[in-house]
Amino acid sequence: MRTMPILEVENIETYYGGIQALKGISLTVEPGEVVTLIGSNGAGKSTTLKTISGLVKAKQGNILFKKNDITKKPAHETSLLGMSHVPEGRRIFSRLTVKENLLMGAFSVKKKSVIDERMELVFKYFPKLKDRLEQKGGTMSGGEQQMLAIGRALMMKPDLLMLDEPSMGLAPIIVEQIFEIIKELNEEGITILLVEQNAYQALSIAHRGYVIQNGEIVLSGTGTELIENSEIRDAYLA
Ligand SMILES: Nc1ncnc2c1ncn2[C@@H]1O[C@H](COP(=O)(O)OP(=O)(O)OP(=O)(O)O)[C@@H](O)[C@H]1O
Ligand SMILES: [Mg+2]
Repeated sequence: MRTMPILEVENIETYYGGIQALKGISLTVEPGEVVTLIGSNGAGKSTTLKTISGLVKAKQGNILFKKNDITKKPAHETSLLGMSHVPEGRRIFSRLTVKENLLMGAFSVKKKSVIDERMELVFKYFPKLKDRLEQKGGTMSGGEQQMLAIGRALMMKPDLLMLDEPSMGLAPIIVEQIFEIIKELNEEGITILLVEQNAYQALSIAHRGYVIQNGEIVLSGTGTELIENSEIRDAYLA
């Protein structure tokens, strides 16, 4: 049986002023998958996520999410439809406490019982956050801030979680933990679109991957196929 993709990106082109960052990107994500986008600096990975979540607008192309045409929808609307985007560099609110940061993630939820329930779920993945509820976000370590950023995204109870370089700048042991949690989140039913420079680790947990170069997709395949591909090995796994 063919399933219906949860996300369908068709031929998107995105510009920053006169610079064309995306030159016709197409990709699909099926429900339950971990899909990764890999590519070098400036390839267009972050722009792809930003275009999907609505932080920047595509000039051409279409984006369908759970059968909704979200091509022209701004970020606050796409998030209400069930996608959460954890941007590059984490972007937590450094002057707000851990608790306040998490509450910001659930801004659209009114019921306290629902908020509490979701917070408990976040603590299940990130028990450390529970001990740090009153600590200011900006005083947490890089790894803790990344966990807070993901925790905040989970407060929306997303169907699709988009992570932009969650391992960036973190110690190897913390990177391991983050990837473990991503795998766990996926096993519990969250579909994941993961942008990573850490190509090997990303491909190891991904069902499928796409390679972006200069605003275009140049290769795609299963995680295993891409890890075993000699061009990928030379370019990204060296
Ligand atoms: N705000 C911006 N204004 C102008 N150009 C931009 C802007 N953001 C990105 N670009 C350009 O768009 C292209 C794609 O950038 P993007 O950030 O999507 O790449 P990336 O694959 O995420 O790179 P990195 O691995 O460094 O994060 C690059 O040429 C970049 O210089
Ligand atoms: Mg980027």
